[in-house]
Amino acid sequence: MITKQKLEIKNYKKIAVTPRFCYFQPKAELKSTIAQEISYSLSQKNKFIHPKFFYDEAGSDLFEKICSLPEYYLTRTEIEILSSIKSELSKYLVGDYALVELGSGSSIKTRKLLKVLTTKQNDVEYYPIDISNILKDSSINLHDEYDNLKITGIIDQYETGLEFIRQLDHKEKLVAFLGSSLGNFDPENGIEFLKKIRFSMRKGDLFLLGIDLVKDAKILENAYDDSSGVTAEFNLNLLSRINRELDATFDHDKFEHVAIFNKRQKRIEMYLKSKVKHQVFVSAINLLLKFKKGELIHTEYSYKYTIPQIKKMAQKTGFKPVQIWKDKKNYFAVVLFSVYGI
Ligand SMILES: C[S@@+](CC[C@H](N)C(=O)[O-])C[C@H]1O[C@@H](n2cnc3c(N)ncnc32)[C@H](O)[C@@H]1O
Repeated sequence: MITKQKLEIKNYKKIAVTPRFCYFQPKAELKSTIAQEISYSLSQKNKFIHPKFFYDEAGSDLFEKICSLPEYYLTRTEIEILSSIKSELSKYLVGDYALVELGSGSSIKTRKLLKVLTTKQNDVEYYPIDISNILKDSSINLHDEYDNLKITGIIDQYETGLEFIRQLDHKEKLVAFLGSSLGNFDPENGIEFLKKIRFSMRKGDLFLLGIDLVKDAKILENAYDDSSGVTAEFNLNLLSRINRELDATFDHDKFEHVAIFNKRQKRIEMYLKSKVKHQVFVSAINLLLKFKKGELIHTEYSYKYTIPQIKKMAQKTGFKPVQIWKDKKNYFAVVLFSVYGI
């Protein structure tokens, strides 16, 4: 278990909600991170906003809506794969496993994994890590559904969450990183991030990665620019968040959502495009922003992978693929890795 002493060093506070559910939050206000990061990223020649800022309360709600859009095949395809592999996955989980989940969100997919673990084990420990406060509601829902589940949430960035996980001193872990969130890292940073995950794991632990595969550009672009405009709203919510939290004067009507598939780089690129020449003032950081007509703010990359690429990344990061599952259309892959080189 995590010791109190270590947590104090890390400046986290613990909130015990019930005897089976507690969560940790950094003591320092996240707001200052937003101020610092936005001040830097919007002052660059090529303006950008880090995708982690999508997930305030409104953004997390919008993401849930995206997950059930007809064009957004990712969620339903990954759920379909996870539902079909329960008995196969169960064979690899010999002994007692704790479940760690990076970017757990609504924890809908988590249920597929918990179904396997809670039927095999008397007790299951679950460690969701998510930057969004959505973690609290998702955890309470799981807590009420599973009597033998103990939840320790970490509301923070992946990296600091992984530091916590490294301190866990008990049985084996199944670390899940679903939703193709690895695709938000460029390949170089993706490799560095996989190394961090690997570093938080020990011999006998397993890593389950859900990753979107390269496919037809139209299918990809529709998934990130849906006909009902929910993804556009999700993207534009970044500007509303900056207005709310940093007292800025962004006007939604002066921007449009853009999502294109860059075939060479195998990635969806998402931007907010300024429709007119105009200025925006961000009061909290005293920043005046000048936008040209057509100027882009980059908000997200979503890299798409091939199976050989996934295997290569694994090789570079100390993971060994144990099993690769795909859906019938080859749209999405769920890969189970063991760790080596410890
Ligand atoms: C694309 S959603 C995936 C949610 C869920 N795993 C799924 O597959 O549907 C990404 C999730 O990761 C969280 N997230 C995004 N960036 C993060 C970061 N840098 N650190 C921690 N959590 C992050 C978001 O709040 C969100 O819940």
